[in-house]
Amino acid sequence: MKTLTITRPDDWHVHIRNGEMLRTVLPYTAKQFARAIIMPNLKPPVTTVEQALLYRDEILKTVPVDLEFTPLMTLYLTAATTENEIKKAAESEHIHAFKLYPAGATTHSDSGVADIKAAYPQFAAMEKHQIPLLIHGEVTDEHCDIFDRERVFIERYLLDIVKHFPELRIVLEHVTTSDAVQFVESASTNVAATLTPQHLLYNRNALFVGGIRPHNYCLPVLKREHHRLALVKAATSGNSKFFLGTDSAPHLTTLKESACGCAGCFTAPIAMELYAEAFESANALDKLEGFASFYGADFYRLPRNTDTLILAKTTWEVPASYGKDNLSITPLKANESLSWQICNQ
Ligand code: NCD
Ligand code: ZN
Repeated sequence: MKTLTITRPDDWHVHIRNGEMLRTVLPYTAKQFARAIIMPNLKPPVTTVEQALLYRDEILKTVPVDLEFTPLMTLYLTAATTENEIKKAAESEHIHAFKLYPAGATTHSDSGVADIKAAYPQFAAMEKHQIPLLIHGEVTDEHCDIFDRERVFIERYLLDIVKHFPELRIVLEHVTTSDAVQFVESASTNVAATLTPQHLLYNRNALFVGGIRPHNYCLPVLKREHHRLALVKAATSGNSKFFLGTDSAPHLTTLKESACGCAGCFTAPIAMELYAEAFESANALDKLEGFASFYGADFYRLPRNTDTLILAKTTWEVPASYGKDNLSITPLKANESLSWQICNQ
């Protein structure tokens, strides 16, 4: 059987929630990845070092005993975040970044930042204390077409942010457009981006194949094919500014299959399989290891992993759902087949 062995990867953007949902989804991430940047958009959001450390303890208690997994915590930036908290976060070995959600941009973002310019003193503090800023890069202007929101965010805010804070390390999360790729490529080495499997594999037609497809709906929303091609090119280019971040975002099946379905694709159990498929389609399996296992660690100034992950070329079917009956989560590609599978270690 054809296999692919790579250094164990990390997930630089994942939602694992808390409580029962955490217990359901975390083992899937821990099986695939050695470490993950944990998104702080809980209800209520994780805004202080103290809360992040408590959340970290909850996660560590949930890691299956036979797996090694390190959660890398982040804090949710609000208008009330103080320089003292930013300093404390930068000094903590467990906190690795702040996350900026424009208020109202996505799931649990209502406590996010409404006036981005007003957050400049906080960006200055992050630059000074050398802690990265992770950005959900979409404007929330209801008059802006939803497919243009990432491009407009770059034009309206991001160009000015990188100009004002040249030493601030920024990750533009889950990039979805050729505009974002171009922006990241032409910015300094302090600017990087994560790429999700769904944005590498699908264009916006996937939202409407024979009817509305809630499990393919996430934010930023899937874009046109030419954008997808630009993302695949960036991911498979070997450019270290582009690295893996699944944005796996579990929601109950009932909350996605609803009159107002939640945004987020659940990909944790099949993440590396999806990336392998995307890279293989681009004839670039040799570029997967840098993207999945090296560049993110380098950007976050963490050591690269030393153990390995093996993927085997074999066809298998993605389950219809994960989790118990009262907590059923439908993954991306439910009931569809995949051509790679990670091997049990
Ligand atoms: C994420 C979630 O559900 O928390 N949803 C999503 O569509 N990606 C939030 C986010 O990252 O935007
Ligand atoms: Zn996310």
